[in-house]
Amino acid sequence: MGIFNTTLAKQSGYDLIDWNNLGFGNYFSDHIFISQYSNGRWDDGQIQPYEPMPIEPGNCTLHYGQTIFEGLKAFRAADGSVNVFRPEMNARRLNYSAKRVCIPEYNEFVFLDALQELIKIDNKFIPRERGQSLYIRPLVFGSGNFLGVHASDTYTLIIMTSPVASYYAAGLNPVKILVANEFVRAVRGGLGTAKTAANYAASLLAGTKAKEAGYSQVLWLDGVERKYIDEVGAMNIMFVIDGELVTPPLSQGSILAGITRDSVLQLAGSLGIKASERSISIDEVFATHAEGRLEEVFGTGTAAVISPVGVLHYNGETITINNNEIGPVAQKYYDTITGIQYGEISDGNDWNMKIKLNQPEILETK
Ligand SMILES: Cc1ncc(COP(=O)(O)O)c(C=O)c1O
Repeated sequence: MGIFNTTLAKQSGYDLIDWNNLGFGNYFSDHIFISQYSNGRWDDGQIQPYEPMPIEPGNCTLHYGQTIFEGLKAFRAADGSVNVFRPEMNARRLNYSAKRVCIPEYNEFVFLDALQELIKIDNKFIPRERGQSLYIRPLVFGSGNFLGVHASDTYTLIIMTSPVASYYAAGLNPVKILVANEFVRAVRGGLGTAKTAANYAASLLAGTKAKEAGYSQVLWLDGVERKYIDEVGAMNIMFVIDGELVTPPLSQGSILAGITRDSVLQLAGSLGIKASERSISIDEVFATHAEGRLEEVFGTGTAAVISPVGVLHYNGETITINNNEIGPVAQKYYDTITGIQYGEISDGNDWNMKIKLNQPEILETK
């Protein structure tokens, strides 16, 4: 079975899965890939059962948060093969995040091989319904046991997978978003461009308050002037103003370089959409809405692909965008990107890593 030493799970969690109510992140496949770093090098890694891991109270990551992660998806294509969407981008971003928090880089080719082996072994966990997918979660953390703020000298890399539902039960439902005016998520020079746990910890209180107020997510402004739009907690953000797609530039220094964001920008030309990366203030968003020029707002991210924004609330003012309906630009992007992911539309950019399964029809989902 390739380069990895595999132990099969003693008991499968497969039978416990409610395929009609997968939700997001509720179920884990039977195996993980795990690799350890010590004495200045990563070991070969192995695939082993998903099971509890012993952890010491002195584990440095519990105290100081030296940890990074990724998120990507595998899709069952019409031809029975499996498509993993742009995994080399996640491998690269993992290493970008690693550098920012002093974690040693992981070989990107080994990462992609490990991913393939893991998906093959647990291929029965890849859902079959259009819209469902296998979410892949790579994670790296310091595994040293010590108190004191310094980088660990041992690390653990894990890749785990989770069958997930379509983000939208019925169609693309616009979300209500609260623009943060009390808290900030990240500042230029801080951790915002890395996919590290601290950014998500920073967002929890604002997210909880937003939910209590009836909003599903928070839109973050830049941490210095509190004026320019950064991104949503787990999505990048796009505006359509006078027919032009506008998204904040990565050079703002506090935004995650989303892979869906990159895909949207790359596809713009072939979809006949004019796109630009420029800073956009919250005042401009509200002003263009007042002038009737703000046509669409939508988020981009692996979980939902495209998430239309129907309502924005900022400092006591609420605006409704495009009658709280999905707009044509968001719909075109959703159809195109999901079409590529499920192998229904030609993958002209070679974005899918194709995995051929030996026995693609092992088990039916219920
Ligand atoms: C903070 C943040 N911004 C943006 C994104 C969207 O990135 P991607 O399109 O790579 O999923 C994510 C999700 O990973 C995120 O956590």
